[in-house]
Amino acid sequence: MVETLIDKCPRIETERLILRKWEERDLDGIVEMNADPRVMEFFPDVMSHDESAHMLARLMAKQDELGFACPVVEDRVSGRFLGFCGLNIPTYPIPLPFDPCVEIGWRLIPDAWGKGIAQESARIWLEFGFETLEIDEIVSFTTETNLRSQKLMQRLGMTRNSADDFNHQMLEDDHPLVRHVLYRLTKDRFESVSKS
Ligand SMILES: CC(C)(COP(=O)(O)OP(=O)(O)OC[C@H]1O[C@@H](n2cnc3c(N)ncnc32)[C@H](O)[C@@H]1OP(=O)(O)O)[C@@H](O)C(=O)NCCC(=O)NCCS
Repeated sequence: MVETLIDKCPRIETERLILRKWEERDLDGIVEMNADPRVMEFFPDVMSHDESAHMLARLMAKQDELGFACPVVEDRVSGRFLGFCGLNIPTYPIPLPFDPCVEIGWRLIPDAWGKGIAQESARIWLEFGFETLEIDEIVSFTTETNLRSQKLMQRLGMTRNSADDFNHQMLEDDHPLVRHVLYRLTKDRFESVSKS
């Protein structure tokens, strides 16, 4: 279902944002974002130019295959690359404990924080996921120390059950970032939160 409908991934324009697929021209933006220690505080390390170039290539290959992979957020007026926010189907070499799943993920440049940009973009993609793709549940996960990201999950109406907390399978068990929290959102809850 998701694999066929996801082809319908639109380009969306709001008053201040453009939400769209990845393009080659996003290389400089993703390189700068992933090299910023403030952005990468809750990831194992900042990323080199080559690592970000590989990430862009992987995201573009994935969006060719599935329709999208954490779409780009662009400033509508200036055209500046602000980061990414949106739906993704995780494809780690080792599955997540809650696979198969559709996640919503985000990473913005610091200039775009504190303006509700992630929240605005995420709401649009959640609505698209639940209403157009007819997904029953969308999840989000982060390290237990990434409170800014968790605050966003809570603002979106996502809920955490500590029984779902997990050690990220791509990190060693003694890595300081290994412990992760999982937030879930069902279509029914999204609809009731959106109406309230
Ligand atoms: C996680 C991240 C996307 C959150 O960004 P954010 O800007 O805090 O999130 P939101 O879009 O929800 O914005 C909310 C903030 O904007 C403020 N705001 C200003 N104008 C607003 C508006 N029009 N609408 C809503 N909120 C607005 C809110 O008051 C809130 O401020 P506060 O954090 O001081 O309470 C961002 O910090 C980030 O990219 N971090 C680095 C990467 C990362 O950790 N990614 C997650 C890994 S899982």
